[in-house]
Parts: sequence; structure tokens; C-alpha cells
Amino acid sequence: MVPKKQQMAVIGAGLMGHGIALALAKAEQYIAITDPVQEVRDSVPDRIRASMVALGDDKVTISKTLKMIEIFPTTEGAVQKADAVFEAAPEKLELKKAIFAEIESNAPETCILASNTSVMPITQIMSDLRLKARALGTHWWNPPHMIPLVEVIKTEWTDRDVAQTMFDLLQAAGKTPVMVEKDVPGFIGNRLQHALWREAVSLVENGICDAEAVDTVIKSSFGRRLAVLGPMENADLVGTDLTLDIHENVLCDLEDRKGPSPYLKTLVETGKLGMRSGQGFRSWTEGEADAVRQRVATHLKQLEKTL
Ligand SMILES: NC(=O)c1ccc[n+]([C@@H]2O[C@H](COP(=O)([O-])OP(=O)(O)OC[C@H]3O[C@@H](n4cnc5c(N)ncnc54)[C@H](O)[C@@H]3O)[C@@H](O)[C@H]2O)c1
Repeated sequence: MVPKKQQMAVIGAGLMGHGIALALAKAEQYIAITDPVQEVRDSVPDRIRASMVALGDDKVTISKTLKMIEIFPTTEGAVQKADAVFEAAPEKLELKKAIFAEIESNAPETCILASNTSVMPITQIMSDLRLKARALGTHWWNPPHMIPLVEVIKTEWTDRDVAQTMFDLLQAAGKTPVMVEKDVPGFIGNRLQHALWREAVSLVENGICDAEAVDTVIKSSFGRRLAVLGPMENADLVGTDLTLDIHENVLCDLEDRKGPSPYLKTLVETGKLGMRSGQGFRSWTEGEADAVRQRVATHLKQLEKTL
């Protein structure tokens, strides 16, 4: 049993930090959240309230959750009594290393230290710590209060019991944790996701289809099954022999380049940055971009009710 009302610190109150704080506070853990930017700190309660309203939470739950959250102006103050710290600051290695040095100087020695980096090796982030056995990765997915998965990443130094304690804590908070035994870039989820994206970009780059066709194929076929049928289950469902036959014939033709596609680099170099510039792989009006965001939020909310 994981005790409730432990003290959690969340470092960085942006998109991920506010959602991590929401998820843990809703699970009755005390939260100390901090951010160096005053406006970000000031907007935490309103942003959490808005996210909870969107989730369909009632007023009592929202008020109970907000009461579990205290906002601190400094990392030093936020981590003083922490049982676990979740760092959700910008994706910059030197910044994260500096933040963990500060956390280590101010948090209790028993406190678990977790980084929410998207793809950076946890080993690199934690390499200068004095007590490395208590450090690990917890890779939450956006939005963290709606997507169940959290990858718990061990480094070569991480104590097994520390990793298990974090796993149990996340599970008790209603998340779906998965243990990542080795610290590889992209962990599990982003390696799988970007293996798919590499092939998707390659199909467009090589004129096999346009970007819209890639999205339609995924959304209208295996994407429909993915939330309830993972690839390993699917391979067993159709048979490993059929899977082998398919791989014998198709793998030799798939994209296997080691770096990013030149097509993608050109998009970025020419300012085609996606929805925020109106043009990326596809062109977008503001209304179309909003509709996509709304569609994702509605879908995630419906999934929560049905799965
Ligand atoms: N956005 C995503 O979809 C997503 C998904 C998974 C993981 N992540 C990772 O989570 C982390 C945070 O991403 P985000 O999307 O929330 O970014 P964000 O820009 O929304 O939030 C980062 C916050 O950190 C604050 N900050 C800056 N310097 C800081 C410092 N020294 N100490 C504490 N806070 C500081 C910023 O003011 C900002 O509010 C990154 O490592 C990112 O790669 C992001």
C-alpha cells in the first residue's frame, strides 16, 4: 500500500508540470510546485481548474485537489520535505543537471529524484549526483492527467527498490507505469512512435503518398486497434509465422536512415513549422488546428470512460 498525503515536489509548472501536479494531487498526495516565472506560478490554480473542468470533475473534487497544492517561488523551498521530486523543466541537459544539483543540496537524502525528460538519457542528467541510486526517469505523456502511461526508467545506478517504490506510487495514483530496465534514448514509447514517424516521413518524401494519406491510413486501419491491441499481442493473434513471412518480405524495403530526413530538415529551414506557422507536412488554418486539438481532447476523454 502506498501511503497518501506524502510530499511531492514538481519542478517546472508548464504544460507537463501542471498536469503531473494535478494527477498526483487528485490522488491525495501533497504537492509543492515551483517555477521561476511569476506569471506561470500565478496561473497554476486556474490552469489546473480548467484542466479538471475539461475532465468533467465536480466542484468538490476540484476544490479538494487544489487544496493539496502549494506554490513555491524557489526549487530550494519546494523540495525541503519532499518524498519524491518530479522535474518538468525545459528539455536542456545543462539546465536539468543544474536543477538536480540544487535539488540534491536541499531535498532529504531519502527523497526519490525523477526527471520527465522526453528523450534525454537519464544517465546523463543524473551523472553528477552524489546519491545516484535514488535517481531515475519518470516519462509522463501529454496531457499527463489524461494519458495513463508513465515510463519508469532505471539507470545503471538506480536502486531496484527505489524504482519499485516509484512504480507503486504511480500505480496508486491511477497511472499505468511500465518499468524500463535500461536507459536508452527515447525509452520505449518514443522509440516506437518515432520508428513509425520515420517511415511516415519517408513515404511522403519518396512520393508514395501525401501526408494526408499517411494519416488517413493509420487512423482508419491499425490506429483503430492500437488502444486495445499492442503489436506483440497482434503478432501472437495473427501468428508469429505470418509475422515472420511479412518481415521477410517488407523489412528490407523500410526506411532505415540513422538521422532525420532531409525533407523534414527543409520544412524546418523554410519556416514550415506545422500548425503554429500554418504549414508543415500539411497546411492548416487556425480553425483547422483548433479542431484537431479539440478532437484529441474529446477522444481521450471518451477513451477514459470506455477502457
Ligand atoms: N510537452 C510534451 O508533450 C512533453 C511530453 C513528455 C515529456 N515532456 C518533457 O517535460 C519537460 C517539460 O516540458 P513542458 O512541455 O512542460 O515545457 P513547458 O515549457 O511548458 O514548461 C517548462 C517550465 O519550466 C520552467 N522552468 C524554466 N527554467 C526552470 C528552472 N530552472 N527550474 C524550474 N522550472 C523552470 C519554465 O518557466 C516553464 O514554465 C521537458 O523535459 C519535456 O521534454 C514534454
